[in-house]
Amino acid sequence: MTPFVLPEPARLALPDGTVQLWVLDDGQVGPACAQLGHTLAPGERARALAYRHARHCQGYIARRGLLRWLIGGYLHCQPEALRLTASAFGKPVLQWPQAALAFSVSHTDGMALLAFARDCRLGVDVERRAGGLDVPGLGRGIFSAREMQALAHARHGSADTLLRLWTRKEALLKALGTGLSGDPTVYTTEDDRQRGAGHWRAWHHGTAMAGWTCIDLAFGEEIRGALAVSRADACISCHPLAKPPARQRNTLRDT
Ligand SMILES: CC(C)(COP(=O)(O)OP(=O)(O)OC[C@H]1O[C@@H](n2cnc3c(N)ncnc32)[C@H](O)[C@@H]1OP(=O)(O)O)[C@@H](O)C(=O)NCCC(=O)NCCS
Repeated sequence: MTPFVLPEPARLALPDGTVQLWVLDDGQVGPACAQLGHTLAPGERARALAYRHARHCQGYIARRGLLRWLIGGYLHCQPEALRLTASAFGKPVLQWPQAALAFSVSHTDGMALLAFARDCRLGVDVERRAGGLDVPGLGRGIFSAREMQALAHARHGSADTLLRLWTRKEALLKALGTGLSGDPTVYTTEDDRQRGAGHWRAWHHGTAMAGWTCIDLAFGEEIRGALAVSRADACISCHPLAKPPARQRNTLRDT
């Protein structure tokens, strides 16, 4: 089991213009559930119990508990006092306390990622590499014509290209709040050569979306991800949950 250490709420600070990422390994789900399960609202508990598999139920409890813990720390209130609902598209919404705090959650086999920033739109996505994918088939109806073209031209490692395009698209659409409902093909993401490797930018109906910071993320060899935040030059840091809070330092530079 991976060590699991919750940050002290008093030490949590989210300066303007920063994005903080928190990574929860699957090995930390057990202790996270034990320490945070009591903070969930009755509706969240009901949702957890509705999962057919125990590991999905526990994963949700751990993610939601950690989300509450971190929001509570940033906003100086008790995690169990927060009121969280969901938009018509399923995006979690903080009803109380009202605050300009943006957050986004994603999970895949092996880990969950939670992201926080102030006064902006924010989305993250992580996905584990999977073999035997129908690469063009998966992109249809999700990717723009330009993205489909990029996929077709990526002869080698097209599964990696798919993963990159997919996580970028989901991160962007989670930031916008629609998720994959609506028409995802009207958005295009592509490498931002000006800003360098690991940076990308987004277009909507052919118009560049200005003022965003968009980066690719990697967690080990197998998990890829993306982050989109409606802040130019956002400062992004990643915080482990396995070290004593006093030693937590910004460890992620944009990749
Ligand atoms: C958002 C979406 C892209 C996530 O896809 P995914 O890769 O399966 O899942 P991820 O692990 O990356 O993200 C799940 C998290 O996204 C968040 N989320 C869900 N819908 C969201 C939305 N519309 N916008 C932003 N975030 C959303 C939730 O926090 C969820 O975490 P939880 O399971 O702990 O509650 C997908 O669920 C989607 O397209 N949803 C919209 C569909 C819709 O309109 N649903 C309406 C009925 S609720």
